[in-house]
Formats: sequence, structure tokens, C-alpha cells
Amino acid sequence: MKLAIVGTGYVGLVTGACFAQLGHDVRCVDKDEEKLELMRSARAPFHEPGLDGLLKNGINNGRISFTNDMAEAIPQAEVVFIVVGTYPLPDGSPDLAQVFKATEEIAQHLKGYTVIAEKSTVPPGTGTALERIIEETNPGSKFDVVSNPEFLREGTAIRDTVEPDRVIVGTDNRKALEIMHELYRPVLEASHATRYMETDRCSAEMIKYSANAFLATKISFINSISRICDLSGADVGEVANGIGLDHRIGPAFLRAGIGYGGSCLPKDVSAFINFSSKLGYDYRLLKEVQAINTVQREYFVNKVKSMLGGVKGKKLAVLGLSFKPGTDDLREAPSLQIISTLLKDGADIVAYDPVTKVPESISGRVRQVSKADKAADGADALLFVAEWPELANLDFAQIKNRMRRPIIFDGRNFLSAEKLGKLGFEYIGLGRRGFEYGARRKCA
Ligand code: UGA
Repeated sequence: MKLAIVGTGYVGLVTGACFAQLGHDVRCVDKDEEKLELMRSARAPFHEPGLDGLLKNGINNGRISFTNDMAEAIPQAEVVFIVVGTYPLPDGSPDLAQVFKATEEIAQHLKGYTVIAEKSTVPPGTGTALERIIEETNPGSKFDVVSNPEFLREGTAIRDTVEPDRVIVGTDNRKALEIMHELYRPVLEASHATRYMETDRCSAEMIKYSANAFLATKISFINSISRICDLSGADVGEVANGIGLDHRIGPAFLRAGIGYGGSCLPKDVSAFINFSSKLGYDYRLLKEVQAINTVQREYFVNKVKSMLGGVKGKKLAVLGLSFKPGTDDLREAPSLQIISTLLKDGADIVAYDPVTKVPESISGRVRQVSKADKAADGADALLFVAEWPELANLDFAQIKNRMRRPIIFDGRNFLSAEKLGKLGFEYIGLGRRGFEYGARRKCA
């Protein structure tokens, strides 16, 4: 099938590259010339494992191409995906200006019946607004607007797209449903576990917000349990394993730590609260989810300050900067909030990340090193804030000898407390056994 993808951010580019790999003919549209050049030479503008290889295949077999010209991509497309950014406004609502503008431009070039698929995350009801824009811009054009939300995760984006848990298609129009089913046929044939769900457009839009809200709720739930674990002496890892064995709960998204970051969960939680409030519903549960997430980082910093007797003049090594492993994305990364607070309190910060660099806003005040063990030289503590696998496999015996004080703060609860304890480290996680923080070590 012939597809156009408007917007080559994370979701747009991965979607385009995967559909090309699955045999469709994909044209990606973006305004950023520099980005287009990079992508034409099979390089993604961000770090995503496997994506450069997919782009190379797609370019070599002529299945994917890149343009800044809607006129080259839209008229021939059977399905046009809108995948442009929806950045948060100060009140938490998403800025839909780019979505509306892209829709207007697409409308100008429509030729023959076209399915317009919303992949940008948008509040329920946006599809109706897009319909109106297209009708006003290009009266008489033949199209249907379908909601087709995206559930891929950064770092595992390709697998999530080629073998998704589910595909959601929202529209009441039979012809559009048939086209979307045909589009996803290669996915459904290759991945038997994928569930395909057709629904109305408003519900599909709502499914996206609800899914991210639920994931954020799971994380804040387990983080609140971790606080009670610190106070009671229980171990949150054991508790998560124990409750996760109940298939109604499940083990996923129960890793306690410094909370969720990234470009999606924080933004979508805010947007959902804002959307609900406009409808007259005060979404107190989600507000609390948000608050727990913020407090969790403060709690981590307070642990560091309390254990070290303040951080003024202390040399702290911050390991792992991206909001999670497998990506170079620093958007809403907990590391940045933690570093800013520690800098304000007078700490001397050395940072390491396997793929990303400290942003310009703090680069003058933070020294970045190219190897994790270098960061440990003379350090008063190591702070782990993203659970990159390579960080779990460091030579900790050697690292201990390089440090001024062998103390580790594990903001992701991913290191072996036992192993580090045996090596002579003081190990401090969040809600993990073996640490006293304003609490009793033994079970209350
Ligand atoms: C999230 C959703 O998981 C995707 O399904 C969705 O498509 C995407 O947002 C989106 O809306 O585009 P992503 O932001 O890539 O994906 O990352 P996640 O794997 O969900 O992690 C989000 C944050 O939660 C990370 O900071 C991670 O460290 C944290 N997290 C995750 C926890 O603190 N504990 C957990 O148990 C799981």
C-alpha cells in the first residue's frame, strides 16, 4: 500500500521504517531539511536500537523516501498518518497547532479517497475537529479520519511496532476499516499474539490517554508502596514480585524508583487531567499520581543529602542521564531534576551516560566523562538514575578503590544490594531492605 507519514519524530519515523520493512511504500514528510538529509543517508536523528538498519533496508529497496513537499507524498497515498508533536501548554493541555496545520496542508493535496490516520496523541474529539478542517480546506474531498493510537516504547520501538500487543483502529466507516485492516495485515500475519480491535474514534482516542494514565498510576502506586517499605522494613522488589504473580495485577510496570519521565507519560497525564477538568471531572487520582512522581525524586535527593550530611562541596557521580535505558532522550528525565537540585545545594557533579550528553542548560556546571568508572574517581557517592544494563555490570571492586566513600544510591533499584554489600559498599535503594531512613530496619 502507498502511505504518507507526516512528521518524522520518534513515532513517525519508526512507524514509517517498520511499514516499509513490512512491504508498504512509505513517503515521510518533514520540514526540517537537516533531519531529512540525515534520514536520507539512513541515519535516525535520535538513538533507537535497530532503526538505522531498517532505514538502510527501506532506502535500498526503494520502499521509504523523505521529502519536505506534501505534494510529493499526499496525492498518491491511500493512508496518511499525522504524527506531529503535541507539546504541553502551561495549563497541561496539548498544543494541537501542529496537528491542525499539518491537517490543513494535507487537505490541500488530497486526491481520491484517503484515510487520514491520527497517530499523534490527541484529546478525544480531535478527530472531529480534523474532519472539519479538511472539509473547510478542501470541500468535496473524499476522506475519513481514523484514530490509530501508538503504543510503542522508546528503546524497544521496532519490536513494539512490528509485534504490538494490540492495534486499535477507531472509526465508524466500513471502507476506512477495511483499508486499515489491509494496512496491518502483514503485522497480524507475522505476529499471532497481536490483538486487533476496531472501535469508534472517540473511544480509540480515549484508549491512548487511558493506557498511559494507567501505566503512570502503576508506577506511582508501587512508588508509594516503596515509601511504606522504607518505613516498615519490607522490600518493595519482593512486594512487587508477590503482587505481580496475580494475573489480574501482572508484573509489568511495578519497578519502584525515581519515577516516570520521558516525552509521553508526564505529558499525557497532564493532558488527561486538563481534558477531564474541562469536561467537569476533577481527576484527583491522576493528580496524586503526578504528585507522587514528583515527590519520589525529592525523596531520593533527600536520602542522598541525609546520608552524606549535606552535599555542599561533595563530589557526586550521576550515572545514566536519559529518562530510561535504550534511548538518548532527555525529555522530562528525572536525572535533570535531580542534578539541578544537587547543584543548587552546592554539589560537584560528574555525569556519565552511554549515549547522551548533559544538555547545554547545565553543561557548564557538570563535568561529563566518557567512562562510568572515571566518574567514580574521588567521588563521595555514586547515584544511579537510569538502569542501563552496562551500569549493572561495572567492575565495582575496582570502582570502590577509586572512591572517597563507597556509597551507592540506586534510584532504579536495579543493582544487587547483596553483591555490593559484600564488596563493602553502603547500598541505598528506594524501599529496599537493608536501609534505615527515618525508619526501623526490622518490620514494624
Ligand atoms: C510510554 C508507554 O509505555 C508506551 O506504550 C507509549 O506508546 C509511549 O509512552 C507514548 O505514549 O508514546 P515510553 O515513554 O517510551 O513509553 O517509556 P516507558 O517504558 O513507558 O517508561 C516511561 C517511564 O516510566 C521511564 O522513565 C521509566 O523509567 C519509568 N518506569 C517504567 C518506571 O519507573 N517503573 C516501571 O516499572 C516502568
